[in-house]
Amino acid sequence: MIVGVPREIKPGEQRVALTPPGVRALVEATHRVIVERGAGAGSSIRDEEYTREGATTASADEVWAQAEIIRKVKEPIAEEYPRMRPGQILFTYLHLAAVPELARALQTADGIAIAYETVQRPDGSLPLLAPMSEVAGRLAVQEGAFYLAKAHGGRGILLAGVPGVPPGNVAVLGGGTVGVNAARIALGLGADVSILDINLDRLRAVDDLFHGRVITLVSNSFNIDQVLRRADLLVGAVLVAGARAPVLVTKEMVATMKEGSVIVDVAVDQGGSIETIRPTTLLDPIYVVSGVVHYGVANMPALVPRTSTFALTNATLPYALELAGRGVQAAVRRNPARARGVNVWRGRIVHPAVAHALGEKATALEAVLD
Ligand SMILES: NC(=O)c1ccc[n+]([C@@H]2O[C@H](COP(=O)([O-])OP(=O)(O)OC[C@H]3O[C@@H](n4cnc5c(N)ncnc54)[C@H](O)[C@@H]3O)[C@@H](O)[C@H]2O)c1
Repeated sequence: MIVGVPREIKPGEQRVALTPPGVRALVEATHRVIVERGAGAGSSIRDEEYTREGATTASADEVWAQAEIIRKVKEPIAEEYPRMRPGQILFTYLHLAAVPELARALQTADGIAIAYETVQRPDGSLPLLAPMSEVAGRLAVQEGAFYLAKAHGGRGILLAGVPGVPPGNVAVLGGGTVGVNAARIALGLGADVSILDINLDRLRAVDDLFHGRVITLVSNSFNIDQVLRRADLLVGAVLVAGARAPVLVTKEMVATMKEGSVIVDVAVDQGGSIETIRPTTLLDPIYVVSGVVHYGVANMPALVPRTSTFALTNATLPYALELAGRGVQAAVRRNPARARGVNVWRGRIVHPAVAHALGEKATALEAVLD
């Protein structure tokens, strides 16, 4: 198979869908890899690092014209629509429900679109979303610690404390992937850490994982009220799959927080769990409400594109190898997680939730496979 990797052209996107180790793995499996010139620059990967592993470099037009499988990070934007070809397989984050015009373009192009975010294992986990939650969770505390500095608008707190001065207090709402990764970094810095979740089994797992060094609390309004008054840094990490994040911290509760404390609501991409949070950008990440610094960056992994690129491709490469090795029909039949990733198959929307969001009826995937 010919695997093509265009440079990401969505504004602000610096990640790339394949790394030099990925090129080597594909070439060893006898596939051809074409990478657009400069595709890795945003992640500090030079063209020679790709060609050394056996890739060729080319223009965007050549990549799209020759590749049977297009590997990307973000959904194609309007100027890429005309480049998509009949039968071509597109493997990327798509979030089609949010971009109906892309759904139409994919249908017209008569290709096969597999979305990272809907690849789902039988246990419900989302293996191609998890790496970005790991990055965002760890970054949440790094960013929070930065904004706790007085010169950056915060209370002037060193999370680690020093002998004779207690460490800072970090409260994490939600003990899933983001929450556990945030707690790990906060603990590593020496902070005093609490995690709240509604799922007691999650709290048991957190207690085990951190050998009791993180305080676990069931998430309810009373407990949230208590932790907020102590918190120097509050990390929002709640997810209710498929729904807007529940608002757990009202603006009145925010007003009870300490002056100069910091809120990083990672769940802002799903509306956020703090009433006063709104999406911000990496160029203008914070604002202040009731004396509390609010950080609402909706694409946190973009701050560390090199780490994010390697984390994402570690997770996507096995799927790409399977797709290229078996062909899309066999890969989809054999791997139920991959089958759930298929959003569009030769002009038909086949993912039920995506079809529903677009106001269409889904075609059953089995009906379109040969
Ligand atoms: N801002 C960014 O750049 C960025 C990056 C990655 C992920 N995210 C977002 O972060 C959020 C969390 O993702 P995740 O991968 O950790 O999800 P996850 O499913 O692994 O964890 C979510 C946790 O929230 C818990 N929860 C649900 N309701 C709760 C409540 N009322 N109180 C406390 N906990 C509750 C669940 O039990 C679960 O443990 C998602 O909205 C995701 O889209 C944002």
